[in-house]
This record gives sequence, structure tokens and C-alpha cells, in this order.
Amino acid sequence: MKSDLISMEELTSKEITNLIKLSIKFKKNKLKISKNQYKNKILGLVFQKPSTRTRISFEIAMKQLGGDVIFLNNADLQISRGESIKDTARTLSQYLDIIVIRTFSNMEIQEYTKYSSIPVINALTNTNHPCQALSDLQTIVEEKGPIKNIKITWIGDGNNVCNDLTIGAIKLGANFSISSPRRYFPKKRIIKIASELAEKHKVKFELTTNPIKAVQNADVVITDSIISMGMEKEKRKKLKAFLPTYQVSKTLMKHAKNNAVFLHCLPATRGQEVSKEIIDGNNSLIWKQVENKLHMHKALLHTMLK
Ligand code: CP
Ligand code: NVA
Repeated sequence: MKSDLISMEELTSKEITNLIKLSIKFKKNKLKISKNQYKNKILGLVFQKPSTRTRISFEIAMKQLGGDVIFLNNADLQISRGESIKDTARTLSQYLDIIVIRTFSNMEIQEYTKYSSIPVINALTNTNHPCQALSDLQTIVEEKGPIKNIKITWIGDGNNVCNDLTIGAIKLGANFSISSPRRYFPKKRIIKIASELAEKHKVKFELTTNPIKAVQNADVVITDSIISMGMEKEKRKKLKAFLPTYQVSKTLMKHAKNNAVFLHCLPATRGQEVSKEIIDGNNSLIWKQVENKLHMHKALLHTMLK
């Protein structure tokens, strides 16, 4: 049966751990893959939103594995003129071996998975970004060792990256705190899943409007843009709600552990969600995160093309 990746909700702790191990093997060049294994295999990238890192790292990952790639801008497909996802998915399945999609709603991804006979990977929707969560968990493991019982703090919008990172990190046994203005907490459904998982894994899951409380004793502090792609209409209102209280600054980081690291999936707006001195400082792991996207995407393609 084909496997798809829609969100971190479907992955077990074991599957997450295995993907991280596989990605680290790719990173260390420790995986021998025959030159012909992916010859004639084609990855299709269907993108409805801009991307620098995810698109390029998937393209390079597939090429380094020995396969080929086609980039499909949504505007160039008949879907932009009203053709259904159902017919598009069936058509693409005849030509491609795997599809990576970046779009608005998870319903669209689900529709693709329903009618594609090939694996589908969610490369970001308004509510999820599982590929980012996986490579960020790898970055944290490499820096901190096993994630079990460490404290990870998310400061900022309860967005797509936050949703998948929360669920993935708790599945690996991390304590997880989220701090944002109340109306920007993750949706109730995510809070419910995260709370149940935290109970199962015997860890703490905390939601607070107090960022100082959230970063207290944190091993890892993470943030993301206040304004996600497609949410530009809310810009003024959101910036007012978040700033300056929810900026990851030197003052805020003082409440975390001395050796706490900082993560941000990028793109970032320095001076909004994070200060320049933190994102460009010694404890920032942003460039490791960028690198690990390549290795994790190879691990995903290798696992899902089997
Ligand atoms: N982090 C991330 O997904 O970046 P891009 O939007 O550039 O792909
Ligand atoms: N939350 C951001 C992530 C970008 C990679 C967005 O959706 O724009």
C-alpha cells in the first residue's frame, strides 16, 4: 500500500525516530544506495505558495538520489481553470512516482491522497508543515541528544509549523510549552490531541499567554513568522497583538537555560518575531535547520518510494 504524509498526527513515535535516524545516515553519507535505484523515478512538485527551502531541497534530494524532478506551478496546470483535484491526481499518478504539494487547505491534500495511486507529501498547508517538523526534530536531536524530557518552547503564532512540531515533539517525549496571545493559540483540535499525547507520554504540555513562564528552563526556544503566507490581511491586527511581548529577544532568552538553542524555520522577519541578535547569535541553529531539510527530504523520498 502507498503511504502519504499529511501531518505528524499519522506518524508513530517509532516512525519519527526512524526517519530522523535515516536522515542522519544520509547526512553522514552512511547509506549505500545503488546508482540505479531511483533512475527513471520522477518527483512532481505542485506548489501554490512560494518556497525557497522546501522546493529546492526536495529537488536536490531527488536528484542526489538519482531520480528526476518536474516543478509544477499551480497556475500552469488546468486546475487553475477549474479542473478537479480528482482528475488532476489521477492524471499525475500516470506520469509521476511521488508528488509533493504545497497548498492552502489540508482538504486539498486529502483529495489528492484519495485519488492518487502514488505517495503524496504535504509540503505545507495553512494548518500543517510536517516536513519542517521532522527536520527540526532532527536538528534538536543532533544538538540535545534524545528529546525525551527536554523542554521545548514555542513563542508566537499557533500556526502550521507549531501544530506539527508540537505533536511530533510530544510523541518523542518532550515537554512542550506554547506562548502567544490567547486568540492565536493553536486550534482546539490540536490542543486536545497534544494534551492526550502528553498524558500518554507522561510529559507536560502547557499553553500560556505569559512568554516568560513559557521559556523558563527551556532547552529549545522556537518561533516563526507572525504573518504566515496567505494571512497578510491580518497583518496590522496581529503585529499589534504580538509585539513587543512575543518577540524572542535577549531579555526573553535570559529566562531559558544558559545553553538553550534557538530555532526558526525561515523565512524570518528580524525585529518582529525575533531580534537580530538572537537569530544571528551563537545559539541559533537556523542554518543547521536549512541543511537538515535536504537530508530529511531524502529520507522521506527513500522511505515513501519503497
Ligand atoms: N521553511 C520553509 O518551508 O521554507 P520555504 O517556505 O522557503 O520552503
Ligand atoms: N508559517 C509559515 C511557514 C513558512 C515556511 C507560513 O506558513 O508562511
